[in-house]
Amino acid sequence: MNQHWADLTSHHATIEQRRILDLFSDPARAKTFSAASDGMLFDYSKTNIDATGLSLLLALAKAAGVAEKREAMFSGTKINETEGRAVLHTALRNLSANVVVDGKDVMPPVRETYARMRAFCDDVREGRFAGQGGKITDVVNIGIGGSDLGPAMAVLALAPFHDGPRCHFISNVDGAHAADVLRGLNPQTTLVIIASKTFTTIETMTNAETVRAWMAEQVANPAAQFAAVSTAADKTSAFGISSERVFGFEDWVGGRYSMWGPIGLAIMLAIGPDDFAQFLAGGAAMDAHFRTADFGHNLPVLLALVGLWHNQVCGHATRAVLPYDQRLSRLPAYLQQLEMESNGKRVSMDGKDLPYHSGPVVWGEPGTNGQHAFYQLIHQGTRVVPCEFLVARRGHEPHLAHQHLLLVSNCLAQSEALLRGRSLAEASAIMAKKGLTGAELERQARHRVFPGNRPSTTLAYEQLTPFTLGQIIALYEHRVFVEGVILGVNSYDQWGVELGKELALALQPILEGKMGTAGKDGSTSALVEFLKV
Ligand code: F6P
Repeated sequence: MNQHWADLTSHHATIEQRRILDLFSDPARAKTFSAASDGMLFDYSKTNIDATGLSLLLALAKAAGVAEKREAMFSGTKINETEGRAVLHTALRNLSANVVVDGKDVMPPVRETYARMRAFCDDVREGRFAGQGGKITDVVNIGIGGSDLGPAMAVLALAPFHDGPRCHFISNVDGAHAADVLRGLNPQTTLVIIASKTFTTIETMTNAETVRAWMAEQVANPAAQFAAVSTAADKTSAFGISSERVFGFEDWVGGRYSMWGPIGLAIMLAIGPDDFAQFLAGGAAMDAHFRTADFGHNLPVLLALVGLWHNQVCGHATRAVLPYDQRLSRLPAYLQQLEMESNGKRVSMDGKDLPYHSGPVVWGEPGTNGQHAFYQLIHQGTRVVPCEFLVARRGHEPHLAHQHLLLVSNCLAQSEALLRGRSLAEASAIMAKKGLTGAELERQARHRVFPGNRPSTTLAYEQLTPFTLGQIIALYEHRVFVEGVILGVNSYDQWGVELGKELALALQPILEGKMGTAGKDGSTSALVEFLKV
């Protein structure tokens, strides 16, 4: 643990008992502890970070080499050291860039694939590419993890912009998922996208076979209604998909960072190439902000520093992402992969044990629904959960503007309640008004105390458009990058998913009864006995 962390720890010890609300005696606090970029406001004033804390955090970022590593990422250096790969998802949203990896300009094939995606989407949306039964009405994207969560989240988020075929997503190897999605679809007017970077993921390949069999019942040549998105062209052709409907990308696009390129095909089909270009433009705008704004006004840097402050310095093990935007209901699930697969590591880049905790547990649900479910614990539980609110100034339903106002008032009320709380004296006064006295008043009042002093941030934006969504996703991507650099981990590998995959493969013949449970622990053996058919 270096001196910067030690300084932050000692600073935290001196302010731990201070109430965040007291910091607002500075009338400029909300302005000082917030930052803006392209119409987006990030307010972190409802945290216990003060001027000293901020300067210590900024010094930590500087000392960790965030600026240098940021440039290394954007310019194609192989910062994914355990896999020997560059990390260049940013190039997918900055198509005019020149990026050289291993002495080669990597952009011409990226631009070519993007142009083919646009042309294919136009063909599908305008009926020039049709199914056996005519114009494509439905698209089924088969993928999992990064090949599912991003497109599924974005298609839902951008519902007001849909003017293409309906998009559906199958991810889980549980046959229930395919069965439920396929029920009611017409195979003769359905386009299937197999989205898999590796084209080996067992869930995706199993579902692809299932969907092909479903289609074969009513379509003479099912392969003609399949497209593929992958880095493995040999495997897509072995599956029988014609190369004109295969959209490739390079290994320098990580799965959970891939929705900007061909993995975003379902998004482009749903909203059209021009709105998809706006999504890319939003991401590129955040990239430009991240590269140029000084750290004290840099949204991704500040979001990361607030995250490190709460997790590593204050010791809060989780953070809740709470979009007051129903259409962002899959954002928490998307961020779980982005953040936890990236920074849920236990050793630093050089293979040594981390001297602190790595990334936090990320979870959440949209407001106001969460208020009627788990906010009880956030307000009165014994653990502190830093909350990250997201909210738009305007919805997409002008005729329901009164509901948007209710939504916004609830969002602001929650962060205010977390900050302010309700003291025993205030709760007692309320109970006294109800006519309670003595021990019963005291007992009832104690149940109604809110400790307050619970930190939150708010990301406010004008309206959830493709551009805004691009900004939000790029913001979180860069937050993960900055946290990863400061923690010293490799944010771009995911070795932690491998062991379970290997063991699942080995368990298949055991569950089929082809092999015994020798070598398995007692619990696994007993569960095999119970579950095998
Ligand atoms: O198992 C984890 C993972 O490798 C993720 O990182 C990835 O997004 C997902 O599986 C899907 O992988 P693929 O796109 O290769 O099918």
